[in-house]
Amino acid sequence: MTSSDYEPGPCGADDSVKSTISKNIGERPASADSMESLEQVAHLIRKCIDCPLSGGRTNAVPGEGNPKAAVMLIGEGPGFQEDRQGRPFVGPAGRFLDELLASIGLSRNDVYITNVVKCRPPDNRDPLPEEVDSCKPYLDTQIDLISPKLIVTLGRHSMSWFFPGYAISKVHGKPRLWNGITMCPMYHPAAALHNPNLRSVIQNDFKELPNILARLEDINDDPEEQTKQLSMF
Ligand code: URA
Repeated sequence: MTSSDYEPGPCGADDSVKSTISKNIGERPASADSMESLEQVAHLIRKCIDCPLSGGRTNAVPGEGNPKAAVMLIGEGPGFQEDRQGRPFVGPAGRFLDELLASIGLSRNDVYITNVVKCRPPDNRDPLPEEVDSCKPYLDTQIDLISPKLIVTLGRHSMSWFFPGYAISKVHGKPRLWNGITMCPMYHPAAALHNPNLRSVIQNDFKELPNILARLEDINDDPEEQTKQLSMF
C-alpha cells in the first residue's frame, strides 16, 4: 500500500475505546472506568490502521514493562527486529539499553519501554509529523496510565515530542518538567553504538538517573522547587 491510496480509518470494533482515548488526551482520566488499561491500549495499537505505517508493519510494537514503573523510556519507533518481534528495543540498540539499565541496577521489568510511533517506518526513516500525530493518543494515554515519576526520552524525535526545538547535544542528561512529570532527554542508544564518543556520554547520563530519582523523592511537588533543585534546562 502506498501513502496515496491509503485511507485513514477507525479501529473497527474498538471505536468506543478509541474515542475514550481521544477524549482523554492531555487530561487525567475522568473516572476509573472511563480510561481503559494498558492491555486495551496495546490491543488498539495492534489493530490500528490510522496511518500508512500500519500497511508496512509485520507487528505493531505497543510497548512493555512494569505498568506501575517509576521510570518510562520512550524511543522513536520500532526497527527491523522490533517489527518482527512486536517488542521494543530488542535489536542491537536494545542490547545496549539493557546494559545501560543494568548499570543502574534496573531491568526491563522495572521500567516501561515504548516508542513515539508504534509501527516501523520504512527503512527506519524518521517518523513523519503526521505519523507522530496519529500515534499521539496512544502515547498520551500510556503516560497517563503509568504516571511515571521520570520519563527518559531516547533520541531527538522522542525529545521533540515533549520539547520541540531543543538540540539534544545541549540538553541531554538535563531534566525538565513536562505536565508535572520530570523528563530527562538522552541520546539514542543506536547513535551511541555508531559513535564511541556518545557511548560514554549516554553511560554517564544514565548513571545520573538514580540521583535524579532520589532527589525527586526528597523534593515536594512544588514545580518551582523541583526546577531549582534539579537545575532543569
Ligand atoms: N529504536 C527505537 O527508537 N525504538 C525501538 O524500539 C528500537 C530501536
